[in-house]
Amino acid sequence: MKLVKLIANLGYGSRKDVTRMFREGLITDADGEVLYADDRAEHDAIRIDGEPLDPPAGLVIMLHKPVGYTCSTKDRGRVIYDLLPDRFRLRSPLLSPVGRLDRETSGMLLMTDDGMLLHRIVSPKAKLAKVYDATLAQDLRGDEAGVFASGELMLESENTPLHPAQMEVLGPRQARLTLTEGRYHQVRRMFAAVGNHVEALHRPRIGGLALDDLPAGEWRTLDAQAIERLFVAAA
Ligand code: URA
Repeated sequence: MKLVKLIANLGYGSRKDVTRMFREGLITDADGEVLYADDRAEHDAIRIDGEPLDPPAGLVIMLHKPVGYTCSTKDRGRVIYDLLPDRFRLRSPLLSPVGRLDRETSGMLLMTDDGMLLHRIVSPKAKLAKVYDATLAQDLRGDEAGVFASGELMLESENTPLHPAQMEVLGPRQARLTLTEGRYHQVRRMFAAVGNHVEALHRPRIGGLALDDLPAGEWRTLDAQAIERLFVAAA
């Protein structure tokens, strides 16, 4: 791919902007030698204003989404892209969230520009375990784990029952749910179906990958090994 297109696709500017950056000598190799638009150079060897280029297409990131951010590009309030470098909004192919978390839910959100990987993760066939920690408005009654595991729970306005889900009690008003599907507001609606209300919801893990110590609002890129860990059942 021509350097102008490659750099423009990473969101650094339009092709016209990038052509101007070449003319201004802002684009160099790792030794600071000015590159020209029709030079050939490896991605890793390119510097813009002395800084390495953003990762190439095939990018996968893990974001610790805080409460109060929407998984959208256009919402009027705060959106997940506000937590990433501005350029990431302009990349082509687009960097999209893999599934969604509600505005009021925090936790692990994956984002990628790799459409095949995105489908592999969200595919019902993958049955990836998504783990949610819920803080509830009222004490658990005691029968919730059985109801959720039954495979018979039908949420309002749906016509197929939920797949069996596991629930672990973490406290009188705290529960950890492990789901293998992702219906709209699923956790909140599940607890509503058993007469409770979710006050806070957090997703610490997807498959074999955990947020660990990634602070809220921060993100990191995932390498091929981390991506494969996603598909390994958590211990
Ligand atoms: N279930 C919910 O209710 N909300 C989320 O954000 C994710 C799962």
